[in-house]
Amino acid sequence: MRVLLIGSGGREHALAWKLVQSPLLSKLYCAPGNAGISQCAEIVDLDPTNHPAIIDFCKSSQIDLVVVGPEAPLVAGLADDLDNAGIKVFGPSAAAAQLEGSKGFTKDLCAEFNIPTAAYGRFSDSASAKAYLKNCQIPIVIKADGLAAGKGVVIAETVNDAEAAIDDCFSGAFGDAGSEVVIEEFLEGEEASLFALSDGQTALLLGTAQDHKRVGDGDTGPNTGGMGAYSPAPVMTQDMIDQTMSDIIVPTLAGMHSRGMPFKGILFAGLMLTNKGPLLIEYNVRFGDPECQVLMTRLKSDLLELILASIDGSLLEVEANWSDKAALTVVLASKGYPGTYEKGAPIEGIERAEETGTTVFHAGTASNGDTLVATGGRVLNVTALGDSVSEAQQKAYAAADQIKWDNGFCRRDIGWRAVEREKQAGH
Ligand code: AMP
Ligand code: GLY
Repeated sequence: MRVLLIGSGGREHALAWKLVQSPLLSKLYCAPGNAGISQCAEIVDLDPTNHPAIIDFCKSSQIDLVVVGPEAPLVAGLADDLDNAGIKVFGPSAAAAQLEGSKGFTKDLCAEFNIPTAAYGRFSDSASAKAYLKNCQIPIVIKADGLAAGKGVVIAETVNDAEAAIDDCFSGAFGDAGSEVVIEEFLEGEEASLFALSDGQTALLLGTAQDHKRVGDGDTGPNTGGMGAYSPAPVMTQDMIDQTMSDIIVPTLAGMHSRGMPFKGILFAGLMLTNKGPLLIEYNVRFGDPECQVLMTRLKSDLLELILASIDGSLLEVEANWSDKAALTVVLASKGYPGTYEKGAPIEGIERAEETGTTVFHAGTASNGDTLVATGGRVLNVTALGDSVSEAQQKAYAAADQIKWDNGFCRRDIGWRAVEREKQAGH
């Protein structure tokens, strides 16, 4: 098969790395890609927002399948446009992508189908949002309804902060994403993620992971896209996984089906593990970045076969096999990220890092002649397997330390929750 992958992050490098291992693949293209992806795919200069150009390329290059990595093209209807043009695509329709594109949509679905989540209100004007606040406890969570690149959520510790967050949303701080606001009960617990693949009816569990959203060690500093992840997440017991599948994932898929917008693709549930069990915080309609890097490292089955089963509605006929090992990825980012950072600084030592048995997935990289340079905030993902999270962590940092990049930094404590659990269990 000839496959076009859309995206340019560490997630897409991990997907490309896994796709080229498939015996079903004959040629992989990627747009817009990065320097790492260019080692396993032919890079094409296409803008993911230009749907007609993507369709033209697919037709002229006999593309059999398009795999969409990030959420924005899905919310913008790229899967619908490809489908209408008769091109096979992996990723949900715009209607189904509302699970990520509109927090209010997801909360209403949860309310209708009894899916456990935080209590909420949904508002399109500031006065009614502030009136609702009067009956809420503090802290309270204020969310812009639409896609805001992870920046549209404020946990307000005072009524003043909550009102200011509401004013920010309605005054356009998040553009159209803030024209509606969701106010949500604050949940206490540990966060974890669960990934499932769906063909519109059936859910196939892919696994669990934990991300590290804050930029600094000890979970301090501003939120980022994710500074590192590991899989599986030992905090999720088999009971919690079963409960999440039966009480959250299955009713979501049934609800979407009954609304006439069946969900096909990757359903990524962000969960709070509370004393009432796992509650849904949010859905994403694609793999996580960097969670995808650890999932792909553990996946033994053919990814392309699983993707085709999801598209063809035959997920019941396939199974996904996983390594028993733990995978852990450390993100190397440009100094200054998630704020402003310098671009173009040279990076050396990726081969030395990989000689230790790890895989380095690229995100914001480009080739400048023979030199690899950093072009983004998150730049590399050093990914290791181990018999425990502690072992995977040691290997990942030993490899990361082989990389010479003066303008880069990483968190030094990725995996700390699992490592502490392993210490307590005496491993
Ligand atoms: P979201 O974009 O909805 O995933 O929210 C971003 C982050 O805000 C989550 O990963 C949580 O850390 C936090 N968060 C969101 N909703 C809640 C909630 N209801 N209670 C506590 N923390 C939350
Ligand atoms: N790492 C979190 C996300 O991909 O949304």
